[in-house]
Amino acid sequence: MASSSSSFRILCILLLCCSIAFGSDPSPLQDLCVADTTSPVMVNGFVCKDPKLVQKNDFFFSGLHLVGNTSNAVGSRVTPVAVAQIPGLNTLGISLARVDYAPWGINPPHTHPRATEILTVIEGTLQVGFVTSNPENRLFMKVLQKGDVFVFPEGLIHFQRNVGYGNAVAIAALSSQNPGVITIANAVFGSEPAIPSDLLAKAFQVDGKIIDQIQSKF
Ligand SMILES: *[C@@H]1O[C@H](CO)[C@@H](O)[C@H](O)[C@H]1NC(C)=O
Repeated sequence: MASSSSSFRILCILLLCCSIAFGSDPSPLQDLCVADTTSPVMVNGFVCKDPKLVQKNDFFFSGLHLVGNTSNAVGSRVTPVAVAQIPGLNTLGISLARVDYAPWGINPPHTHPRATEILTVIEGTLQVGFVTSNPENRLFMKVLQKGDVFVFPEGLIHFQRNVGYGNAVAIAALSSQNPGVITIANAVFGSEPAIPSDLLAKAFQVDGKIIDQIQSKF
């Protein structure tokens, strides 16, 4: 009796692990699978190029010391280092980004559909937060200083704002070779073609004119 209940518990834990693993990048089945971006074959990720043709530079990127240009409407710039920049990241389930923030610049509310993010502040002061899913929609928000680290769980809407006096810089690691980004405002108000404004007026419980105004900005 005790052993069957403990094997049931182990089965439950295994099932839980599986469902978590399937939400993210699958584990690699070989040492390396450098992306062959020229292949016409479509797979989940990229097909591997011939291992004999793999070079050290397939695992290399240079430029994360460079300051991103924050002269834009939100005052921030993300420099991604994912499979598109390092083909050797293919199948490895990990990537990186540098984020620059002008004073009071924001990285607007967005989600990564395929990755948890762990962010380290390397310069300045950032207010960061994420919101849990329905029905709680609970906000977790905190002010971070240089050296502080914060986690944004996979799929949840999150944001950052530079609340310091100078520029701010963060390095984010993400648990996917290709985390994807859905910026909420761009997706909802800037889709192509546009979501009907009367639909959005009802969704946001405001006058259609307000929706037209927001849509005109995206
Ligand atoms: C930064 O971006 C702005 C807007 O696109 C552009 O006008 C400016 O020349 C850029 N600055 C640098 C240093 O590239």
